[in-house]
Amino acid sequence: MFAKKLTCLATLLLAATVGSHTALAATPSSASTVHNIGIVGAGNMGETLGKLWADAGYHVMLASRHPDSLRSTANEIGHGTQVGTAEQASQFGDVVVIAVPYGALPQLGQGLHQQLAGKTVIDVSNPYPGRDGATAAKALSLGSGKASAQYLSGAHVVRAFNSLAATAIASNAHHSPLIAIPYAGDNSKALAQAKVLIQQAGFAAVNTGDLATATRFQPGSSLFLQVLDEQALRAQLADER
Ligand SMILES: NC(=O)c1ccc[n+]([C@@H]2O[C@H](COP(=O)([O-])OP(=O)(O)OC[C@H]3O[C@@H](n4cnc5c(N)ncnc54)[C@H](OP(=O)(O)O)[C@@H]3O)[C@@H](O)[C@H]2O)c1
Repeated sequence: MFAKKLTCLATLLLAATVGSHTALAATPSSASTVHNIGIVGAGNMGETLGKLWADAGYHVMLASRHPDSLRSTANEIGHGTQVGTAEQASQFGDVVVIAVPYGALPQLGQGLHQQLAGKTVIDVSNPYPGRDGATAAKALSLGSGKASAQYLSGAHVVRAFNSLAATAIASNAHHSPLIAIPYAGDNSKALAQAKVLIQQAGFAAVNTGDLATATRFQPGSSLFLQVLDEQALRAQLADER
């Protein structure tokens, strides 16, 4: 009887172990080779995304021009979240997220050229000419995806998360049914990494196509600020073709 109980216990333990390995196989690091995420800009967007990814098991470093002021935010996020300069976060990240006022992109792109070369960069920044001047005006006429790729030349840019308010991202993560995040990019590895990071943040990932298609969810587009599930987002994209 005792031996039978032990066998049952062993079977349960084995099942639990196999189960946890199965879960691990689906964890962010093994599925996409992303372990570290550097976030340049730690305001509404950077903090919101940093928390979602830290909660999902990624190592996060937040950066701004005043990294010491980010310590309390990093402590609130927890999970060992670090702070650093933009250079340090760009070096640290397997993927780097840019979440700054759009007008800062040209200067950041030049300053971080070496660290970002060949790296996946998820740009969540939105161009507003009133705030960001000529840099934003150019982005709106060229298309935000193409413009970001020029400003951040050498990086594999993906546009994502820019079409929802930070508050909507925070309150809708892991919602059921999942809320959809449209994303666009030119590089297949960068797109695959962005897709996993969107999913791990608690959303459905909907690829609109190459970087030129980022206009479909930039400020002024019909999808901008729309909180939609995957089916509704795909239907709207199809309607607008
Ligand atoms: N808020 C939203 O709901 C929302 C939604 C979608 C997209 N976006 C877009 O995402 C971007 C960020 O928005 P946000 O609301 O998070 O802005 P925010 O709260 O003002 O935060 C901006 C962050 O960027 C840092 N920063 C500014 N210039 C920098 C530079 N040259 N180098 C490094 N860090 C710099 C700021 O810190 P320091 O000043 O200390 O450097 C701050 O941490 C914007 O382009 C915005 O349009 C915002």
